[in-house]
Amino acid sequence: MAFDTIIANGTVATATDTYQADLAIEDGKIVAIGRSLPRENARRVFDVPGKYIFPGGIDVHTHLDMPFGGTTSADDFETGTRAAAFGGTTTLIDFAIQYKGQSLRTAFDTWMQKASSKAVADYSFHCIITDLPDARLEEMKELVRDGVTSFKLFMAYPGVFMLDDGSIFKALRMAGSSGAMVCMHAENGGAIDVIVKQALAEGKTAPKYHALTRPTTAEAEATSRAIALAEMAGAPVYIVHLSCNDALEKVREARDRGLPVYAETCPQYLYLSIENFDVPGFEGAKYVFTPPLREKWHQEKLWKGLKNDHLQVVSTDHCPFCFKEQKELGVGDFTKIPNGGPGIEHRMSLVYSGGVAQGRFNVNRFVELIATTPAKLFGLYPRKGTIAVGSDADLVIFDPNREHTISAKTHHMRVDYSMFEGIKVKGMPDLVFSRGRVLVENEKFLGRAGQGEFLKRGASPGI
Ligand code: URP
Ligand code: ZN
Ligand code: ZN
Repeated sequence: MAFDTIIANGTVATATDTYQADLAIEDGKIVAIGRSLPRENARRVFDVPGKYIFPGGIDVHTHLDMPFGGTTSADDFETGTRAAAFGGTTTLIDFAIQYKGQSLRTAFDTWMQKASSKAVADYSFHCIITDLPDARLEEMKELVRDGVTSFKLFMAYPGVFMLDDGSIFKALRMAGSSGAMVCMHAENGGAIDVIVKQALAEGKTAPKYHALTRPTTAEAEATSRAIALAEMAGAPVYIVHLSCNDALEKVREARDRGLPVYAETCPQYLYLSIENFDVPGFEGAKYVFTPPLREKWHQEKLWKGLKNDHLQVVSTDHCPFCFKEQKELGVGDFTKIPNGGPGIEHRMSLVYSGGVAQGRFNVNRFVELIATTPAKLFGLYPRKGTIAVGSDADLVIFDPNREHTISAKTHHMRVDYSMFEGIKVKGMPDLVFSRGRVLVENEKFLGRAGQGEFLKRGASPGI
């Protein structure tokens, strides 16, 4: 028997097991896992002793080619998925935005157009709903049938993205009865707007006031309200980009009560803090995203939350804007700084380094956080998110000992700074496969634009 591709002598790590094995790949799928698989007639053999074999990373929160704050995020679906691949992420779920007055279908079609000829790796969409008259509720079901099985709702950004509680409740009920997940941006937008207006009136216009006008209580209150609305609606809810202990406590309490409440955090909240604003001039704009950076002590609480399953996922919320010309739109007024930061490339190394290499959790929990749980929660499992016979051969050959210093000089994102500049990580991907095709080998990109496929997702089964 001859296989097309053999990956030999690696250490397979899934969410549950770690073991030595060879993998065989045919037609983009894993077809055999075993010891000493026959390699004689294989077209390609990759011998990887001493390396981990992980399922390809799944980043369920990115914003590629997204119009926001008077400009457009700097990575499109080609540069963004390419940078993701360099970091070991082979699937992403981006956000298709429904603008006011539009159908949900228009949002989906618009984002398909942005992605389909460009993505180098597989992708899917959540639909952001900004306008939900009763007549549009049925459209949610239609999107679910077409594989868009999650929706993002905003409790912040009044007048732009924010939905009122009644609309949120209706959307949760419809999502719950359709097998879909609601992803919630949980911040009390009304209260924040009052604080922001007061800051501007007092002449507080520097970037750090973005953080100082969005208190942790505003995030905790909205998290708690989102959970209450979901409980009343009988629906699951997934809190996105959770940044602080106050909100984490609300999620933990709800999960202790057995509610289907889930939450993600992002590397920026694990590695950066309000102290990053202590930089000269306007440079703090590099750290303007929402929710904002918090006091440093929150970081360890979030790491503990990841270990103890109070948080289930690490995503990036990759929403890159160049410092020059894009972030600079907010010189003299922090409210005009486009919100978002670049991170799609370094999620796996940052989480492995801070989590596994520093002894906070084991390698199986790492895989669960960056691939398996995202796949389960968002209807991609077991096609994605694990290493099993029949799963897509999205694989990362990962060197646990390779060290790297993150820098804008060497990263692959189309943005002129790094939020993580100078941070040293231990653990880097050497080889990255998407459906059996090599995307990255020895720092060289071998993929091509348009080879990524749209993933029609199943219902969110919960975990
Ligand atoms: O600042 C952020 N996070 N920008 C992206 C939009 C969002 O709210 O996720
Ligand atoms: Zn958000
Ligand atoms: Zn986001």
